[in-house]
Amino acid sequence: MQEFLSHVKQGLSQSPKKLSSRYFYDAKGDALFQQIMKMDAYYLPRCEMQIIQQQSEQIAKDISTSHSGLQIVELGAGDGSKTKHLLKQFGPYFKPMEYVAMDISPNVLAINEKLIKTEVVGINHRKIAGNYFETYKNLTPITKGRLVLFLGANIGNYPTPEAIDFFNFVKSNLTKNDYFLVAFDLVKHPRKIIAAYDDHNGITKQFNLNLLERINRELGANFEVSDFDHFPFYNPITGITSSHIISLKQQTVEFPDGFTINFEAFEAIHTEVSKKFFWSDIEAIAHQSKMRIVQTYLDQQKAYAFVLFQPHA
Ligand SMILES: C[S@@+](CC[C@H](N)C(=O)[O-])C[C@H]1O[C@@H](n2cnc3c(N)ncnc32)[C@H](O)[C@@H]1O
Repeated sequence: MQEFLSHVKQGLSQSPKKLSSRYFYDAKGDALFQQIMKMDAYYLPRCEMQIIQQQSEQIAKDISTSHSGLQIVELGAGDGSKTKHLLKQFGPYFKPMEYVAMDISPNVLAINEKLIKTEVVGINHRKIAGNYFETYKNLTPITKGRLVLFLGANIGNYPTPEAIDFFNFVKSNLTKNDYFLVAFDLVKHPRKIIAAYDDHNGITKQFNLNLLERINRELGANFEVSDFDHFPFYNPITGITSSHIISLKQQTVEFPDGFTINFEAFEAIHTEVSKKFFWSDIEAIAHQSKMRIVQTYLDQQKAYAFVLFQPHA
């Protein structure tokens, strides 16, 4: 709670104003994100499911050349509704197989645990709630192999310099025979991209504005949420979609301790980055973090990629 408050105060005191996307996911944010994943315009989970359903067995075969037992660590695991299909196909290839779900939301981890335990046989499920920048560091060394999963195109939340730092961070807890499997949303037509972040039914708007509702609920601020709007845009030069909350008028928001934030009319709060990747971006990240690309798995339209990395020997 204290960390949330200090991040919010710090972010809203900057110019431009900023809130971290990690705070989207309280119980209401989790439920809205589950709705987003079912939207027609939000193509990402469909691409991801196609790769999982059609290529998980091949991924398991590629990894089983170096390991018979496997610990699968998923960062930002979410509800596990896609991962369960991957784990089912991994089952015959790895014994023992342990799945460690890491997420900042205890609520979503409870859903994940129930789903995986009931639907995937022979798996040891462990859940670790907290910020993965803390919890991943504390993983103990293991004798079996380790595969770290970072799915849902979440790597797009980290623009390139931060993605390189993130790869180095993950690598710090991998041996040279371990693997890192990352889902990348590839660059595609800008209209298709922007439609995914700005749907006509306003679900992405509710998801973005829930950040202000959460600040009111948990930190006692007095945001008048109807005086704010959702505004995403996509830059085809950088491949970056940015989401913003726009203050529709000049206004002041107060916190219980007297801390105030002033907004000018139409001033923006930056809330999320979602980068779409060119191949050259992926190769540059691998090169700069000293990881090698072992294999690539594409969906049929070549719009989305799972890339399997290993630390350089
Ligand atoms: C976009 S969702 C994706 C969930 C899942 N991987 C999927 O593909 O459906 C991002 C997930 O990462 C979690 N998350 C975001 N930032 C995090 C952090 N710093 N530490 C731990 N979990 C985080 C959120 O709670 C959320 O469940």
